[in-house]
Amino acid sequence: MDFKRSDFPEGFTFGAATSAYQIEGHATGGAGSTHWDTFAATPGNVVRQENGDLACDHYNRYAEDFDLMQAAGFDAYRFSTSWARVMPDGRTPNPEGLDFYDRLVDAMLERGLAPYATLYHWELPSPLADEGGWRSPDMHKWFGDYTACIMGRIGDRMAAVAPINEPWCVGWLSHFLGHHAPGLRDIRATARAMHHVLKAHGTAIQTMRGLGLKNLGGVFNFEWAEPVDDSDAARRAADLYDGYYNRFFLDGIYKGRYPDAVMEGFAPHLPDGWQDDFDLIGQPLDWVGLNYYTRKIIAPNTDAWPSHEEAPGPLPKTQMGWEIYPDGLYKFLTRTAREYTGDTPLFVTENGLANADVIVDGVVDDAERTAFVSAHFDAVKRAIDAGAPVSGYFLWSLLDNYEWALGYEKRFGLIHVDFDTFKRTPKASYHALKSALAR
Ligand code: FCB
Repeated sequence: MDFKRSDFPEGFTFGAATSAYQIEGHATGGAGSTHWDTFAATPGNVVRQENGDLACDHYNRYAEDFDLMQAAGFDAYRFSTSWARVMPDGRTPNPEGLDFYDRLVDAMLERGLAPYATLYHWELPSPLADEGGWRSPDMHKWFGDYTACIMGRIGDRMAAVAPINEPWCVGWLSHFLGHHAPGLRDIRATARAMHHVLKAHGTAIQTMRGLGLKNLGGVFNFEWAEPVDDSDAARRAADLYDGYYNRFFLDGIYKGRYPDAVMEGFAPHLPDGWQDDFDLIGQPLDWVGLNYYTRKIIAPNTDAWPSHEEAPGPLPKTQMGWEIYPDGLYKFLTRTAREYTGDTPLFVTENGLANADVIVDGVVDDAERTAFVSAHFDAVKRAIDAGAPVSGYFLWSLLDNYEWALGYEKRFGLIHVDFDTFKRTPKASYHALKSALAR
């Protein structure tokens, strides 16, 4: 690792991130069925039809996991609460689920880990999916009730909270590309889901402020859109990709509008009265989180809006096939501050790589991960030097886990997990980070 804690500003927060469905073991503790369970049970959606029933058994092993975080010297832990664990039918509280998150938060605090919570990392309770899920105009009300329920219980101990992980994935990836639950491919569903996600976000922020919570933010994902050449057509295609991927949600929150290039396709499909929702959507935020992994090289084609091709890139790739492009992180941090958030603190809330890690003689030598993290720390440092108020960095992920439609074979963890025995083995990158974080 080329960096030490002391290379970053005083008080910079170093953390690791996970999400509920990806690690807890959803079959335990009275959690209800989610749209991910039924999506995964439908052949063709998920590698080997794997699901989150067992995952990393974090539900039973969180103390061991937090001991490892503490030993590594982390300051904070970004986790999510599962709606279907807190309210198995989406509406009725589950005491066992609330007790679990209560214990979990206390276990973080006992180890000096500041809790950074996300309220929705994709496990929508099936009964709400039956009623239309993110397409439903009532979604923000259901989400507000869930927010009040879980934060009524653990909100007193939160360092920071964001309502929804990666609105683009909830909207576009899941309703237009169909790669994630509920697996739809429908433009009207997409336009509605993307707007309703923002209404739910605003409602949750309002609800939490009403409960007296502080330090409320949002977590968005970004992918740098590089035009394949400097033709007008390529630039337009990249601009549209940038619009619906990177700008849609921040434009909604900070500018009270959606990008023109996106409205070309969305206008006929948004719900009636959508223009009146921006007061709710634009609740002030105390911080903004950026999840960043890669870039795409965008080439135009002649198919219908918003079609494009992705050209192969020349850079080294991760196990996901994603190009390693740290400069994109620098560009998004500086652009977000410049064009949207000003002095509001920014966090890198996810960044990391999947690697085909194997244990040899008890050791996982993931030099690729250490190099990846170093290169992205460098991008963060450059962004800070350029004036972006970056306050922290969370690595995705603490543990190897359930990588959604790709099942258990993509290993993102600092800690290796054997999915048969649940044995944890810290990788070489864990030890490198531990040395870098030492005070
Ligand atoms: C992000 C998700 C996270 C994980 C990483 C690799 O989009 O938030 O759950 O899947 O990608």
